[in-house]
Amino acid sequence: MTCYHIGQSIQSLERKLDKLTEMMEAVRESDLVLWVYPVYTFSVPFQVMRWIELIVENNLQDAFSGKWMSQISTSRHFYDHTASRYLEEIGKDWGMRSIPGHLADMQDLLKPEGQVRFESYLEEIEWEMGVTKPEADVSAKQISLITDLLEGDESLKEMIEVYKKNTTAKIRVLNLNEISMKAGCLGCLNCAMSGECVIKDDFQVSLQSFVQDSDAIVYAGNVENHWFRSVWKKFDDRQFSNGHRMNIVGRPIGYLLAGAKESESNFLDVLTARAEVGHVYLCGIVSDQVGGNTTEQTETLAKKVDWAMVQHPERPVNFQGVGGMRVFRDLIYESRGFMREDHRFYRKQNLYDFPHKKRSTILQGYLIGWMMKIPAIRRRVMPNLKKTMIQPYDKILEQRRSKG
Ligand SMILES: Cc1cc2nc3c(=O)[nH]c(=O)nc-3n(C[C@H](O)[C@H](O)[C@H](O)COP(=O)(O)O)c2cc1C
Repeated sequence: MTCYHIGQSIQSLERKLDKLTEMMEAVRESDLVLWVYPVYTFSVPFQVMRWIELIVENNLQDAFSGKWMSQISTSRHFYDHTASRYLEEIGKDWGMRSIPGHLADMQDLLKPEGQVRFESYLEEIEWEMGVTKPEADVSAKQISLITDLLEGDESLKEMIEVYKKNTTAKIRVLNLNEISMKAGCLGCLNCAMSGECVIKDDFQVSLQSFVQDSDAIVYAGNVENHWFRSVWKKFDDRQFSNGHRMNIVGRPIGYLLAGAKESESNFLDVLTARAEVGHVYLCGIVSDQVGGNTTEQTETLAKKVDWAMVQHPERPVNFQGVGGMRVFRDLIYESRGFMREDHRFYRKQNLYDFPHKKRSTILQGYLIGWMMKIPAIRRRVMPNLKKTMIQPYDKILEQRRSKG
């Protein structure tokens, strides 16, 4: 692995073009380009953006063409997803193939769950690049395929067929047009107290048996008028009866879309946000309008869902999920008097992670602030601040190295 510190060397790269061309030689010889950066103000830091400009100004993009790319960011999850999408857009302009990034919180690596997620990410990279791609044995697994397929939806039908051919898991199909859903959500809020919908039809049992009792879920739908057809909305709105309880955490999911153009960024944003808020593992979104060969993409999705059902990979949740959860956390806490089911769930799952509960972190902050007020201490601490900050991470890395 060759490592380039763009942040530290951007000024010399500006002055010495031969350094940049030398870097491009290494890119040409590599299989994967991995961007590693802190999120700065909704995107990548200036230094990375300037480096990208230098590549474009000097017409060096061809070095990246056909390469795999992925990214590791650290942040406090404030708009980390827009930073990641920015780089994915650059990668796409340069003809690269993108693997979902690892969008970590800056302290993740210090926690066991953060380390597990990082390991998962490395495994996902290997799987995507085909380094470790054994067929997963999924014959005992159950996939729920939820669709709005109607007579004449040829493209969606074809995608579903290709999907089915590329997995050995059992597939049960729920066609939303074939179950009785008498009405959309009435907004009556009875469910907030009881946890159940007042409308008695096929909805509740379908939700239970197809969404909750499955190893993976594939949503196969037609996109028209900038969204799924309205029957999906009926099904989705009725899920309000399940409140804000994430009950399929970690479950692999995937989308097969007929008619979703790349310009449907609002709709596609909703699909990723739902995955993040629900803490599910999004294996991919295939559209017959985006990214070339639909059959190939569908095959890859089927194989990735198979892999995820067996490996149970995990990812950190990005801004869409962290932000969404904070809104729900505050809403449920202040409405706990009548949102009883949600409140019970949030308490049981320790989801009330209010800042006032992190007493030692707050105390530490006061202590640092107080010490920094003293010039003599400040003069001693500041030059070593970065070193001090990364010390706990070094310790973790050292432990990993000694483990092998
Ligand atoms: C100029 C600046 C801008 C930042 N902007 C964001 C931001 O938009 N979103 C976020 O979550 N964190 C933001 N942060 C926090 C950093 O992303 C975070 O602390 C990161 O983990 C630092 O990584 P490093 O220790 O490798 O420098 C910002 C930090 C700085 C210094």
